[in-house]
Amino acid sequence: MSGASIQPGPTVALAGLGRVGAHAPAVSLPDGRPVFRNHLDAVQVAGGRVVSLVDPSAERRKEARSRLPECAIISEVATIAELKPGGADIVTLATPPYERLDALRSALALRPKAILLEKPLSDGVASGAELVRAASAASVPVFVAYNRRTDPGMRAFVDGLAVEDVRRAVFYYGSGLTNYASHAVDSLLAWFGPVRSVQAMPDGHSGSDRGCISFNCITESGLTVHLIGLPDVNYDVFEADIFLADARVGYRNNGAEKFRYEARGDLYYPGYPGLVEVPQGMARPVGGFVEMYRALFAAIESGAPAPLLCTVAQAFDVQRVIDAVVRSAKGGGCIVALGPASSH
Ligand SMILES: NC(=O)c1ccc[n+]([C@@H]2O[C@H](COP(=O)([O-])OP(=O)(O)OC[C@H]3O[C@@H](n4cnc5c(N)ncnc54)[C@H](O)[C@@H]3O)[C@@H](O)[C@H]2O)c1
Repeated sequence: MSGASIQPGPTVALAGLGRVGAHAPAVSLPDGRPVFRNHLDAVQVAGGRVVSLVDPSAERRKEARSRLPECAIISEVATIAELKPGGADIVTLATPPYERLDALRSALALRPKAILLEKPLSDGVASGAELVRAASAASVPVFVAYNRRTDPGMRAFVDGLAVEDVRRAVFYYGSGLTNYASHAVDSLLAWFGPVRSVQAMPDGHSGSDRGCISFNCITESGLTVHLIGLPDVNYDVFEADIFLADARVGYRNNGAEKFRYEARGDLYYPGYPGLVEVPQGMARPVGGFVEMYRALFAAIESGAPAPLLCTVAQAFDVQRVIDAVVRSAKGGGCIVALGPASSH
């Protein structure tokens, strides 16, 4: 890691030292500032201390240890269950979504002040519901790392989005339902409110949770949102295109490039308003991990809620939408009604 300032601060036990736990490299903003994209870097840049490294791979533990200060008191173990209770303020689970319930129970037994789970919440809606129950029974705040919520560029984009003027939204995604689609669904729930019903489009790949099923959501407020899966192109796809009454906004290249067009009368044809692009400044690759830890550290220090972060109940609502998409695809594109959201 370069550019990290290392200081005493809230302590973190980090479980899962793979790509998002420790390896995803920092990228640069056009002005040269780094955007950190893994938990090991983000904790330190946010002013925290990683005090425990957990991963079955000794090699990954060793590599992660080499990136922490010499003087840090570190426990390095293969499983969360080997950690001693009370050893860290926060437990982060950057582990794969399967066996999350066991991992969460082990994390709760450590009696931390908060737990951060990587997305998606778990590998199924039944285990997801159990996770929500376990978190609520333990009265420990559990958050899920939907990092676009805390990314500064995405926050500025959302702040400029007049939700009441949105007429229709389209998201385009690759990399699977539980991957990019889950980020898009988290955004649509956070911006447009609960989803009333879901319908897979007939071109969907039924039955595969790893697939990129195209689907439509209708929100409680009556907005239609289309999510188009694009698994078969040779570039990364995570885009949004939002149509407002007098503007069109969105982002390309995995959120790095935001765009905005505004209506102007008689642009090319008399009597026909067109759209004129309004420059949006520099491209900004998405991070949000450092800001996520800053929000978490502030919340545990003050005891106040952390409204910027995705709660376990909100992440469960994402999972319910994804589950409904798979059921709709298996049912030949039937409409699946969702019932009341768990986080509202
Ligand atoms: N928020 C994001 O932008 C983002 C980006 C990438 C991945 N993720 C999510 O993070 C999670 C991990 O993905 P990844 O790509 O880093 O996976 P990965 O396979 O690269 O790494 C997972 C690591 O967890 C370790 N592990 C497995 N079970 C464990 C356990 N019980 N205790 C401790 N360590 C354990 C593995 O040995 C491995 O080192 C997934 O849920 C994925 O969806 C999120």
